Amino acid sequence: MTKIIQKREGCIGCGTCTVLCSNFWQMDDDSKASLKGATRKENGDFELEVEEDQVKCNKDAAEACPVKIISIEEN
Ligand code: F3S
Repeated sequence: MTKIIQKREGCIGCGTCTVLCSNFWQMDDDSKASLKGATRKENGDFELEVEEDQVKCNKDAAEACPVKIISIEEN
């Protein structure tokens, strides 16, 4: 399993993740993106476990995010 992690507080709402990986990312009413189905951790980050074949577009989003708040944790 691979974890996608978003430090959502730092999102500036550019929307790139929602374009590159629309199955996983959406813009919310507060103009920040959220990772669909993710759970909020104690430190405020959001985290979602995905299958190997779902990692690619999330990696693209992580690389393209201008404030680098998306990370991929591969086990
Ligand atoms: Fe926010 Fe980065 Fe997506 S700034 S909208 S998480 S590409």
